[in-house]
Amino acid sequence: MRPANDLLKVNQVRAPRFPFPHVAINKWLAPLRLAARKIQIYRTIRYSEYEIEVKRLRAIHCAVLNEISCSRTIPQTILDVGFGNGVFTQAVSAAFPHSDITAIDTSIPKLSSSENITFIKGSVEQLPFASGSFDLVITVLSLHHWQEKDKGISEIYRVLKKGGRLIIGDPLLEDWMSNRILGLLMQVLDGGTFTDKKRVSGYLNTAGFEDISIRLIPHTMKSLYLITAKK
Ligand SMILES: C[S@@+](CC[C@H](N)C(=O)[O-])C[C@H]1O[C@@H](n2cnc3c(N)ncnc32)[C@H](O)[C@@H]1O
Repeated sequence: MRPANDLLKVNQVRAPRFPFPHVAINKWLAPLRLAARKIQIYRTIRYSEYEIEVKRLRAIHCAVLNEISCSRTIPQTILDVGFGNGVFTQAVSAAFPHSDITAIDTSIPKLSSSENITFIKGSVEQLPFASGSFDLVITVLSLHHWQEKDKGISEIYRVLKKGGRLIIGDPLLEDWMSNRILGLLMQVLDGGTFTDKKRVSGYLNTAGFEDISIRLIPHTMKSLYLITAKK
């Protein structure tokens, strides 16, 4: 039998530090990604009853919150796809404390579910909900991470109630040269694959959505868009 020391040596063989170029590139990009995440807009949103301190939210989150509150009726059931750190889900919960919010993400939830938020692990391409379950689906800064965007949008259509709304906040690559350059830079920093107006409209139309609107969000360096549609 081999002595224990020898076994230890075998197990301790060090892996090369940067075996593949993309690992090295990722290490270089990590501080840049962190800096990009730190550029956030600080503001407070005032609703009729609630004042929400949205210090850690960006302009895109404020735009989505405003868009939700533009609905004629308060959504009773909301699905947040790609909740990330859950901070935005909590802001939505603070703005709509009587709504029942389900939040889904492919990563394991870091936050525990609360009175009106249920965090679960799962993918937009295969939503574990019955058809017609939600009044509203929101998804912020997540679309560009989806492997199968068409499948994800069709799944969202399925789980929405008739007349239910979808609000997407995400970067789109558009024709304007600097927007494309900025978009590509963001893509490198944040990962994922950005889509464009034409493709996203195609996914929404094919899924069966109506009243599709795609608008630039102000103060986002002409790169972030609010995409809304109705079932
Ligand atoms: C940049 S974070 C956005 C977090 C949050 N929505 C926000 O605005 O702060 C994107 C999230 O989308 C999630 N995601 C990526 N692909 C997904 C998929 N196919 N289904 C559900 N979530 C997904 C990622 O795990 C990540 O947490």
